[in-house]
Amino acid sequence: MHPAAEELRAGPVTLRRWRADDADELYRIVCESLPHLAPWMAWAASGYADTDAREHLTQAHAAWVGGVDYHYAITDRVGALIGSCSMMGRIGPGGMEIGYWLHPAHTGRGYATAAAAALTAEAFRIGADRVEIVHDTANVRSGAIPRRLGFTEVTRRPAQGAMSSGEAGADLVWRRTP
Ligand SMILES: CC(C)(COP(=O)(O)OP(=O)(O)OC[C@H]1O[C@@H](n2cnc3c(N)ncnc32)[C@H](O)[C@@H]1OP(=O)(O)O)[C@@H](O)C(=O)NCCC(=O)NCCS
Repeated sequence: MHPAAEELRAGPVTLRRWRADDADELYRIVCESLPHLAPWMAWAASGYADTDAREHLTQAHAAWVGGVDYHYAITDRVGALIGSCSMMGRIGPGGMEIGYWLHPAHTGRGYATAAAAALTAEAFRIGADRVEIVHDTANVRSGAIPRRLGFTEVTRRPAQGAMSSGEAGADLVWRRTP
């Protein structure tokens, strides 16, 4: 696959590659978002330290340089950080999985849907042959995003790994092809 763009316009928001100097802001928005993220994201369930933010950005940089995963900050019209979204090469050759979260002050406006639409287009531009979005069956708001974007539900399967408090323990997998 080709390398992904460092910045993507996504309607009302912009996606830009996370930078090492975002660590303090990442730490702040994650801390403010923890009660909203913890039911769905295992990494948010056991608290979050400033070193977690730094470590995440170091890993994100390595994954980007290696052409494996592409992690983007979601920014608003004035460039403020309001969430995060990713394209991850963990579903096998040719595939990209998309993930997202928003600061709770910025939900309900279509921002995550716009971000996922831009990432889907970018995944196909760099050569992916399929894009998947995976969420727990209880995470209805997450599932509304692939549904809005014309993904097809392909399977339900038992979840793997740590379960978060809101989760039912079953994953729903959505897929789109070019
Ligand atoms: C998942 C998550 C990002 C979804 O956030 P969201 O605000 O529902 O999604 P969007 O930003 O796409 O906004 C959609 C909402 O905006 C509304 N909206 C307004 N303008 C819109 C537009 N132009 N396009 C799409 N939706 C629009 C939609 O109707 C919808 O509102 P509704 O929920 O009342 O129906 C958010 O709930 C979150 O951060 N959850 C915690 C982390 C998480 O679960 N991540 C996913 C793990 S799998």
